[in-house]
Amino acid sequence: MSALPFPFPVVEWREGRVVILDQTLLPSRTEFLECRDVPALCGAIRRLAVRGAPAIGVAAAYGLALAAHRAAEGRLETPAALAAIESASRELAATRPTAVNLFWALNRVAGVAAGLALGGAGAADLAAGLLAEARAVAAEDIAMCRKLGAAGAALLPECATVLTHCNAGGLATGGYGTALGVIYAAREAGKAVRVFADETRPLLQGARLTAWELADQGFEVTVLCDGAAGSLLRRGEIDAVITGADRIAANGDTANKVGTYPLAVLADRHDVPFYVAAPGSTFDLATDGGGGIVIEQRSPDEVHTFADRRTTPPGVLAWNPAFDVTPGELVTAFITEQGVLRPPFEQSLAVFRQG
Ligand code: MRU
Repeated sequence: MSALPFPFPVVEWREGRVVILDQTLLPSRTEFLECRDVPALCGAIRRLAVRGAPAIGVAAAYGLALAAHRAAEGRLETPAALAAIESASRELAATRPTAVNLFWALNRVAGVAAGLALGGAGAADLAAGLLAEARAVAAEDIAMCRKLGAAGAALLPECATVLTHCNAGGLATGGYGTALGVIYAAREAGKAVRVFADETRPLLQGARLTAWELADQGFEVTVLCDGAAGSLLRRGEIDAVITGADRIAANGDTANKVGTYPLAVLADRHDVPFYVAAPGSTFDLATDGGGGIVIEQRSPDEVHTFADRRTTPPGVLAWNPAFDVTPGELVTAFITEQGVLRPPFEQSLAVFRQG
């Protein structure tokens, strides 16, 4: 067991700073990064020091609280403080395009700021109000993940073997996890779960992060190369594939870490259920289908290198989409805090329609 508490302290507020568990250093080192201003936090999000859709949302919420605190320290009048918060929101929104949780959190906290300002709040009130809202976003994420975890745990047999991709665990959320939340909840319900984790090229979120957190929590975890998933599924030992999501469209099309789509095709080919575990903040019902989801393209250098060593010859190109889209027809069910949602998704996902 690590010295870290569980749920993991992924993003926290300490004395006017946003403190992040630096995931670029795991599994070798558990170190925390202090962000004193919004540009520092944006940099941390871009280089994946904090990553995973719900965790990015929590970080962005604290980012607006950070902007409000700096405005209060500078004794800005309310209109100027509000302008600083709006500018911070634009900066944070430009960090990564795919995870809808980022935009969901920014809209929610910016809405609170606008409401407080309308009610006559000063900069200090804005700072206090936005910090309270960011803390609520973080606490609600843990609560939603615990709830969806319990719903998903009921789908697993007493002794289950699960295959997962990327890291949709405590590290990717407010601290508890979505896909791995199901696994934590299954154990809490008395079930035995062992996990196979795709290593998840190019940045190895499976090998570095999923393997680290599951081992830390005392699970048997086996890492495999992404290309070995087909052979593993053909052996017939996997009870379920469970992944997280970065954005789920109204028809169930799901953006998640690149490599999820081939895994869903393989699960279909081998008759293994393919579950996507996600909180309401990951559903984007304003987007009809996967064609409307912006897929982040990251630096080709992430593909050209392995463990800081160049692996491709000079002059060769690399293609590096960070996410892919799994068609809703390949998803057996969505595991959510509103329960297990099955096809037809146009109808079942409507529980997340706002207003
Ligand atoms: O690029 P990352 O590491 O932010 O990608 C993360 C994923 O794709 C996760 O599977 C997803 O955000 C779900 S997190 C509960």
